[in-house]
Amino acid sequence: MRTLLSLAAVAVLASVGVAAGGQTAPEGNARNGRQLFEQQNCYYCHGTAGQGGRDGARIAAIPLNAQAFNRYVRRPAGAMPAFTDKILSDQELTDLYAYLKTLPAAKAPKDIPLLDQLREK
Ligand code: HEC
Repeated sequence: MRTLLSLAAVAVLASVGVAAGGQTAPEGNARNGRQLFEQQNCYYCHGTAGQGGRDGARIAAIPLNAQAFNRYVRRPAGAMPAFTDKILSDQELTDLYAYLKTLPAAKAPKDIPLLDQLREK
């Protein structure tokens, strides 16, 4: 019984630790982010739903963390134009990030009925 109790205590402490040490990203306003996505023409290359297009990568449900996102948008590596803090403030980047997080990720082929039919069973 004693060991069970202390095991439970360890589990509780561990989950508290994860909650405290994990997500510390500042809150963003996804609604404002959506407007910025349109105003700043992100959609032009990345698609209206962030799905990606001929020119830009898929950025819906973006896998980057907030820091990496900010770094990338400020100093992109490839063909993307840089958005300096004269164009987008840090808060606006946070809002954009929050918006991208609300967009659904791509479905797996097995979740699309027609593609699922084509799979070998
Ligand atoms: C002129 C086209 C264009 C515009 C406008 C544009 N991007 Fe991009 N973006 C790209 C391209 C192309 C890439 C792929 C890598 C590269 O070439 O820079 C990219 C990559 C990214 C990435 C990295 C994706 C990853 O998974 O590594 C992020 C994040 C991103 N864009 C966000 C934005 C945001 C936010 C905006 C609007 C403020 C924006 N982009 C506007 C073309 C564009």
